[in-house]
Amino acid sequence: MKIEKINAAVIGCGVISDIYMDSLKNRFRIINLTACSDLDEERSRKQAEKYGIEPKSTEAIMQDPNVDMIINLTTPNAHYSIIKQALNHGKHVFSEKMIAVELEQGKELLDIARAKNLRIGVAPDTFLGAGIQTAKYILEHGLIGTPTSALVSLNRNFGLFGDLLPHLLKQGGNLPFDTGCYYLTALAALLGPVEYVNGFSRTYRPDRVGEHLDKPWFGEPMKAEAENILVGSMQYKNGVLCSVHFNSESIVNELPELKIYGTEGVLIIGDPNTFGSPVVLKKPMSDAVEFPFTHGYKDNSRGIGCAEMAWAMRAGRPHRASMEMAYHVFEQIHGMLISARNGCRYEMESTFEIPEALPAGYIDNGFWGPTEESALIK
Ligand SMILES: NC(=O)c1ccc[n+]([C@@H]2O[C@H](COP(=O)([O-])OP(=O)(O)OC[C@H]3O[C@@H](n4cnc5c(N)ncnc54)[C@H](O)[C@@H]3O)[C@@H](O)[C@H]2O)c1
Repeated sequence: MKIEKINAAVIGCGVISDIYMDSLKNRFRIINLTACSDLDEERSRKQAEKYGIEPKSTEAIMQDPNVDMIINLTTPNAHYSIIKQALNHGKHVFSEKMIAVELEQGKELLDIARAKNLRIGVAPDTFLGAGIQTAKYILEHGLIGTPTSALVSLNRNFGLFGDLLPHLLKQGGNLPFDTGCYYLTALAALLGPVEYVNGFSRTYRPDRVGEHLDKPWFGEPMKAEAENILVGSMQYKNGVLCSVHFNSESIVNELPELKIYGTEGVLIIGDPNTFGSPVVLKKPMSDAVEFPFTHGYKDNSRGIGCAEMAWAMRAGRPHRASMEMAYHVFEQIHGMLISARNGCRYEMESTFEIPEALPAGYIDNGFWGPTEESALIK
């Protein structure tokens, strides 16, 4: 039986588009990348030339009956409108995180997709990488016994980055949404849905100035429009209690912490914003040991989420980076912020099915040749 590729086009040709286009042209063959667009036509033309695809307008991509899937790599404030347009043109969508800015927008997109029987897949897709799939293997094989609690902590310096990437200072682009989502998605893929969340938040230094000496906006007033410190707690449906800490007003070299404590061990997961951070297992009465990866995709495999979704479309099964899981994580963050603003516990409304583990044992290159996609087919 011949497997038909999924025809896809990228909208948004900025920083992250390179790794996507490279993966989709040279690594994952289930997708036939045909075109790209950007508000900035010059960017779109450059990327099109580099990857041998056609530069088009977003409207032309939306109207093209040969495009099955839109890959949305625009900035977070444009995600909702691009996804909505794509669904209304009958296209499946894979979008960079997060699905939208406002909770209601995310809900609306899920409703449209369901009504039209279309798929939305959403990054982060790093949970499909070697690190988090190995953590899943450890959990599913009972090596830490029953998980009872978890810990998430992430710090950054948006005083500095916010100069360069202003969306980091705005609602929807602030640390919990921009990077916290990697941590919460990893835990979602490992522990499942959450029942209740609580939060405390503040906007530290709302009025600031551009700090980069060599930039034209040096010394110019800037506003941090969104909460930049959030601490919270979450109760998973399986009973696990989790402590959450995001601080974007700290130092540049972040100190990622992601741990799951169980009755028979502690699982220490590396940076979930990467595919192949080491996974460490601590058992009683023994030293902590780095666990060998049980799965492939330890290098930067961004694009794997849309390739896996394309294989799922061909196989008629659910894809793993599902809109339900993405929306649930989105609701967790909103829920913590709502709790902080209202001073009350937030009860989660959404839920999702834990994505199945990828098949274990995949190695980057088999003796018989590259087996890059072997783990994505089932
Ligand atoms: N840069 C990273 O390291 C990184 C890593 C992982 C994920 N992401 C995510 O990828 C997405 C894009 O990030 P980036 O760093 O590439 O941003 P970027 O600003 O470099 O690029 C975004 C591009 O989208 C274009 N764009 C914005 N609105 C548009 C619209 N309505 N129609 C067409 N084009 C539009 C912009 O002109 C810009 O070229 C974001 O959601 C971000 O969170 C970025």
